[in-house]
Amino acid sequence: MNITSTLRSTAQNIIDELQFKFDVYPRLQYQPLPWIGLKRARRGHGTVARWKAIESSLDGLAIGSAADIGCSVGYFCIALALKGIPVLGIDMDARSLRIAQYASRKLGTRNAGFSNMLVSPATASLLPNADLIVLTSVWHHWILHYGFDGAGQIMSTVWERCGKVLIFETGEQEMPAEFDLPPMDPSPKVWLENYLASVCPGSTITHLGRFRAFGPGGDEKLYVAERNLFKVARLSLDGEHRSDQARSARRSDLRVDTGTSAT
Ligand SMILES: C[S@@+](CC[C@H](N)C(=O)[O-])C[C@H]1O[C@@H](n2cnc3c(N)ncnc32)[C@H](O)[C@@H]1O
Repeated sequence: MNITSTLRSTAQNIIDELQFKFDVYPRLQYQPLPWIGLKRARRGHGTVARWKAIESSLDGLAIGSAADIGCSVGYFCIALALKGIPVLGIDMDARSLRIAQYASRKLGTRNAGFSNMLVSPATASLLPNADLIVLTSVWHHWILHYGFDGAGQIMSTVWERCGKVLIFETGEQEMPAEFDLPPMDPSPKVWLENYLASVCPGSTITHLGRFRAFGPGGDEKLYVAERNLFKVARLSLDGEHRSDQARSARRSDLRVDTGTSAT
C-alpha cells in the first residue's frame, strides 16, 4: 500500500468511527445490536424476543437465502448472517443502513448486504427472490403512503418473491388515525390472518405470538403496545416439514437402538 492509500484508509476509519458515534447518539432508535455492545434500544426486548420466535419457527427448514424489508439497523440480518444464511437488508433510511453496515463490517459478516431503497408500488418489482422474507412493522407505513390497495400490490410482489417463509408483523390499533389502518375486526390477530391468507395464496399461517412494541413517541415503557407476529409458509413446504420430522424420528430411533444418550 502506498502512502496516499494508507493515509486515505486511516482517515476513512476515523470518519467511519465518528459517523458511527454520531449515528447511534443518543441511543438506537428501534433495534439493539448486542453483538457490538449496543444492548439498549427503543424496541430492544421486543426485537430479541421476536428473533427467538422467528428462529425457532425456522427449525427444520432449509433456508438458503433471506431478505429483510425495512431492516432498520440490521438486527435480523446479522442474526441470520451469523447462522450462515446469506441475507439482503433493504431500508430507505440511510442512517440506519450506515449503522447496519458498520456493525456487519465489525462482525465480519460477509454474507450480509444492505441496500438503500424506498419500497413502493413503483419499485417493488426490484425486490429479490429469497427463501425467507422478513417484513416486520413496515406494512402500516405502506398503508399510510400508498393506501390499502398500494400496500396490497406490494404485498403480492413480496409473496411472489418469497420461496418458503414470510415473517409478517405490522403496527395495529396503537397507530394514530392518520395511518388510516383498517378497523381490524373482530381482532387484529384474526383480521391479519384473513388478510395474509388473501394476499398470500397457497400459504399456511401460524401465529408466533404477541411482542412488545409501542405507539408514536413511546418506547417499551411508554405507550406500550403488543403486535402479533405471523409465519406465512408456502403450502409446498408441508413435504419439507414432514420429511424433516421423519428424519428426526429416524435419528431418535437410532439413538435408542445404539443405547447412546445425549449429554
Ligand atoms: C418500525 S421500523 C421496523 C424495523 C424492523 N423491520 C423491525 O421490525 O424491527 C420500520 C423500518 O422500515 C423502514 N421503512 C418504512 N417504510 C419503508 C419503505 N417504503 N421502503 C423501505 N423502508 C421503509 C423504516 O426506515 C424503518 O427502518
